[in-house]
Amino acid sequence: MDQFSHSSTVDIRTCGINLNHWYVVARNIEVTAQPLEVLLWHDPIVLYRDEIGKVHGLENRCPHRQVKLSEGKVVKNSLECAYHGWQFNEEGHCTFIPYLTEKQKIPNCQIYAYPVQELDGFIWLFPGDKNELERNKIKPMGVMEWEHLNYIATVSQIECRGHFSFLIENLMDMYHGHLHENYQAWTDAQLKKVSVNEHEIKALYEAQSYYKIDKIWSIFQLFFPSLRRLHSEPLEVIYLYPHWISSLGNDFKIYCLLCPVNETYTKAYLIHFTSLNSFWRLHKLPKWFRQFIKNSLFGTAQKMLDGLVRQDIKMIEQEQESYLGNSQRRTYEVNPTISQVQKLIKQQLSEKLDKLK
Ligand code: FES
Ligand SMILES: [Fe+2]
Repeated sequence: MDQFSHSSTVDIRTCGINLNHWYVVARNIEVTAQPLEVLLWHDPIVLYRDEIGKVHGLENRCPHRQVKLSEGKVVKNSLECAYHGWQFNEEGHCTFIPYLTEKQKIPNCQIYAYPVQELDGFIWLFPGDKNELERNKIKPMGVMEWEHLNYIATVSQIECRGHFSFLIENLMDMYHGHLHENYQAWTDAQLKKVSVNEHEIKALYEAQSYYKIDKIWSIFQLFFPSLRRLHSEPLEVIYLYPHWISSLGNDFKIYCLLCPVNETYTKAYLIHFTSLNSFWRLHKLPKWFRQFIKNSLFGTAQKMLDGLVRQDIKMIEQEQESYLGNSQRRTYEVNPTISQVQKLIKQQLSEKLDKLK
């Protein structure tokens, strides 16, 4: 029997991804006219911005001699290989070879072009079946608070030597607040409800939040712990495959946008939003001023977010190492959310495989 015939026989710690989703491969500011290599589930991809600023994603391989196209440069709307100067358009067709004689024809050597979208500050890429994308009109999840004037963003990048399942389990299990102590915005989480469908898992916890963002000086709570008052807030975490969204009451929202690189490495972007929704006076100010406030406060929670990420990565990498040392060693779980997460990851993989049959 093929190991994927039954999702129960798949080892969660080596489980592949369902390619028929939009993944986040870069921040938009990372992609310039200088080609950039990114990796998504074993695939090397080159991203570049053309003359009019549009982002494209091609297989990062020159078909001539198999070197990386990311070593090259953008010429008009094409990508030119560094080695002999062959050029490829956004569809991956070779369009120009500088030393071709009149009698010679450009060889038919197309490389793969990925559907790519620049949306809400990130580059979203669809690595799966293009027919499926078209047929089901699959849209990138997006991050609606990114442009919204009432939300202050902070971004922290996760680079982690671990399988993505360890990261998602970390994010869905709010009992790991134990690890974060001072960095965390809340404490004492208690799981109240888990709801599941074929695309997502929602876990609702009740937590004690330290922060209340209702006064203009509330922001100082970030720096002065004595200003914080514990109070009860709903803490909701959602695994909306393949990404993650959480909210703490009305004041905070965090996204984790995933880019699993391979079985033992995961890249992701954690985006923290502080809401200014309760400042109704602020909403009456001119847009340019609100935009100015939003831009000026970008990254306010950087220290906290980077601190959380460091602590989480340390644990996840130890879990991965331990798994690699002995994959048969048993672990024990009491949070019912985790078994649902593992089920969804396996189901998403088997769904993909079923369609290939
Ligand atoms: S290897 Fe790319 S042009 Fe020759
Ligand atoms: Fe954490």
